[in-house]
Amino acid sequence: MKILVTGGAGFIGSHLVDRLLSEGHAIRILDNFEAQVHEGNRPAYLNPDAEYLQGDVRDRDCLRRALEGVEVVFHEAACVGVGQSMYQIEKYVSANVLGTAILLDCIVNDRIPLKKLIVASSMSIYGEGQYLCAGCGVIYPSLRALDQLKERKWEMHCHRCGSIAKPQPTPETKPLVPTSVYAVSKRDQEELCLSVGRSYHIPTVALRYFNVYGPRQSLSNPYTGVCAIFSARIKNHRPPLIFEDGLQTRDFIHVRDIVQANVLVMQNPQADYETFNVGTGQALPIVQIARLLSELYEIPQVPEISSKYRAGDIRHCYADVSKLTALGFRPSVSLSDGLRELVGWGRQINAQDRVEEAAKELQVRGLAQG
Ligand code: UD1
Repeated sequence: MKILVTGGAGFIGSHLVDRLLSEGHAIRILDNFEAQVHEGNRPAYLNPDAEYLQGDVRDRDCLRRALEGVEVVFHEAACVGVGQSMYQIEKYVSANVLGTAILLDCIVNDRIPLKKLIVASSMSIYGEGQYLCAGCGVIYPSLRALDQLKERKWEMHCHRCGSIAKPQPTPETKPLVPTSVYAVSKRDQEELCLSVGRSYHIPTVALRYFNVYGPRQSLSNPYTGVCAIFSARIKNHRPPLIFEDGLQTRDFIHVRDIVQANVLVMQNPQADYETFNVGTGQALPIVQIARLLSELYEIPQVPEISSKYRAGDIRHCYADVSKLTALGFRPSVSLSDGLRELVGWGRQINAQDRVEEAAKELQVRGLAQG
């Protein structure tokens, strides 16, 4: 099939491109080669068998060329920094929401006969995950109050009875509570695609990625997630800085399993017009990630538990993956193998530690506690 991957030069997009090419598809990539991600260079990992168009998803002429003859679109192009989205509001809404709107506009008005549209969404749209309160049952708490964080009480309390609530796997049915501009833009991308897809009978699927890691992740970009951030710290012989007490948990999924999910929903009509969590279903404490990475890099660094916190951070969220599992999805990369691969990649590349710079940007705006 002829397939367009927007953002196909990026971390997730490029892995997807490799897999689709290996299955014999013809791949076109539309990517703007964002400087924050690629540092001005075309990455060496780009697959020469794909066709490359350099351009912005908001550029209609470019999109028209990109969509010519295409049967499937994977929309992976997006600005991805949660913290940064809180002060580059226009940039994030424009690239992510307007970019998606223009893509859809071109698809429907140029009558591109798409067999499938798959859009990259994010766990961030849930806000906090689902919890269980022993007395009150299942709850969907909002973010912890600032006063609670100031008292260094990190765990989630039931908003009804005040007792500590236990995190549970978060299903797709959990009400969406996006708490950052990035998250709002991801929810909009997902809803725009599904609504236009349903109206025009374009089989559309939204995949809610949990915390993705793996080779090709940009380690010098302080906005790409904690595995990259900790790698940059450790490689520069600095201790990973842990917010809160380090026992907050996330669901870390290897990029190859993200690709597996994309290919699965492309091939399976039962996925059409649906949203799916893409995670492992395992909750992992952040401090454990720091320790594992330090071990694997063989650079001993004791994580620094700072007791600081970031405004808007959630405490726990991990995926209920039963909906995707019912279609045959099985996460295939174990955390230890996956992190070993990330470290292998990390050893080959230069990683500038810009974490403190990024933290200062947030602090001066009152978005993080210094
Ligand atoms: C957020 C988004 C997610 C996105 C990801 C990467 C939400 C709810 N989720 O996830 O969709 O894919 O960013 O852009 O907004 N931490 C430290 N020290 C650090 C950095 C982080 O302790 O130096 C902690 C954070 O406090 C957090 C955890 O690690 O508890 C994970 O942080 P991060 O990787 O930035 O991403 P999320 O907030 O999970």
